[in-house]
Amino acid sequence: MCRVIAIANQKGGVGKTTTTSNLGIGLAKQGKKVLLIDADAQGSLTASLGYTEPDAIEITLASVMGSLIKDEEVEPMEGILHHEEGIDLMPGNIELSGLEVSLVNVMSRERIMQEYISMVRDYYDYILIDCMPSLGMITINAFACADSILIPVQAAYLPVKGLQGKRVTYWKRIRVLKN
Ligand SMILES: Nc1ncnc2c1ncn2[C@@H]1O[C@H](COP(=O)(O)OP(=O)(O)O)[C@@H](O)[C@H]1O
Ligand SMILES: [Mg+2]
Repeated sequence: MCRVIAIANQKGGVGKTTTTSNLGIGLAKQGKKVLLIDADAQGSLTASLGYTEPDAIEITLASVMGSLIKDEEVEPMEGILHHEEGIDLMPGNIELSGLEVSLVNVMSRERIMQEYISMVRDYYDYILIDCMPSLGMITINAFACADSILIPVQAAYLPVKGLQGKRVTYWKRIRVLKN
């Protein structure tokens, strides 16, 4: 059965993207079928895997979620890139920023990514979602479909202190989504 893990922290530069790609490639080396989803508008995961112009990629998480919002037909494996390290990638780019804004007026707006993941989860053992450093709608979408959330944090005073304060916000939002 597929396990969906969101890698998130409101703070940037704590290792979300690095954790997503290394954990994904490690799981693939153990023979697991892995899909990485780049849910950060900066496209860092996409770029770090060698697709150096994320904004030039035509089919991305944003375009697929956009099609689902418009009730357009989406092929399950459409746009998924097969990487030489043995993982698959649904790329992300700057269009996620626009999508974030347009989601505000959409029905069940926190469940669009879940709709996408339900189409592809049968093909994978693990789906890892690299979230952006914010608790906006795209991150809430990732939380809504995740079985668990991995929160990387630097072992330093301020990042740990910041996490303690935000923990309440994380869990409040997750509880609302899971109920
Ligand atoms: N475990 C680690 N130890 C040391 N440096 C790390 C570790 N994980 C990530 N980094 C470095 O920290 C920086 C930020 O990592 P990144 O994964 O881009 O963070 P985020 O996605 O949270 O913004 C990068 O330069 C990366 O190489
Ligand atoms: Mg990142």
